[in-house]
Amino acid sequence: MADLVPLEWRNGRLIILDQTLLPLHETYIELHDYQEVASAIKSLAVRGAPAIGLAAAYGVVKGAQAIKTNDVREFNSELQKVIDTLAASRPTARNLFWALERMQRVAQSGINVDQIKKVLEQEAIRIHQEQLESDLALSRLGAALINTGDTILTHCNAGALATGGYGTALGVIKQAYAEGKNIQVIATETRPLLQGARLTACELKKAGIPFTLITDSMAGTFMRQGKINAVVTGADRIAANGDTANKIGTYTLAVLARAHNIPFYIAAPISTVDSSISSGEEIVIEERKAEEVTCIQGVCTAPDGIHVANPAFDVTPNRYISAIITERGIIRRPFTRGLKETCR
Ligand code: MRU
Repeated sequence: MADLVPLEWRNGRLIILDQTLLPLHETYIELHDYQEVASAIKSLAVRGAPAIGLAAAYGVVKGAQAIKTNDVREFNSELQKVIDTLAASRPTARNLFWALERMQRVAQSGINVDQIKKVLEQEAIRIHQEQLESDLALSRLGAALINTGDTILTHCNAGALATGGYGTALGVIKQAYAEGKNIQVIATETRPLLQGARLTACELKKAGIPFTLITDSMAGTFMRQGKINAVVTGADRIAANGDTANKIGTYTLAVLARAHNIPFYIAAPISTVDSSISSGEEIVIEERKAEEVTCIQGVCTAPDGIHVANPAFDVTPNRYISAIITERGIIRRPFTRGLKETCR
């Protein structure tokens, strides 16, 4: 069955699949302007680091098309507001800023407004196409790390829904399965917003890959029982030394994997690497609303007026990571050198 497609650019129209409604409703909505794109990123209607980058790139195109001046300087100053609004939507995913920086560079190379609008649209489409290509390349490379008979644990959702392509962590799993490897998957539900239960489970079911859904707190027991052979997750931002931010709970899984001698892999495109920061200490972790923790799908499960913490991501120190799977190769320790060589 075909992958779920998180966003599509159809002749100047941006259509997204509202992921907040999955798996109950497969609802596609049109985002008419850049403010709607920023809101959709904030609300997680479109989510996952690479898909956020794609949505933002198309958001810049929408914003540019609505600017009504032929003066290049005036246009660029209006465009900056568009870029700033999109950049403020979520802080952690590197791909968002990477895509916006690409769009900004392209805008600066244009000579007149009509031409800038045209090259912006071409650049967004190119970023989208490149995402698909890098997903496929890293999935093929990563699949070599998976053996027939393996059970692979994955956390959150790093599939087609999160990238707009084939997926990263889930891409590796899908590719291994497509190569005929007899594998099983364990998907964690991923509290508080259940991206594992709602989205990864949908994608695995559609792909026909055998899997078991568990709650986050069951992972240790499954590892201790010898039921997991490898962990593969995506990433939101990778520092120059390999420290990696990903969905909250990833760090716990990495420590557990180390305790049980299980390889822990990160699968991510080079656009997720932030060479400007030397370690994970510098990664800004998004803090989201308390209601995401006190309520599940609108039903409150905790008393009113209590203190709640809701960091959306955590940082896994590089020492817990066995390898980082990118479209340009599999990087192993020492990560600082490997990432530098791979990203140049
Ligand atoms: O808050 P989300 O759903 O955007 O978080 C997504 C994740 O943490 C993914 O694992 C990460 O973005 C990698 S997606 C290929």
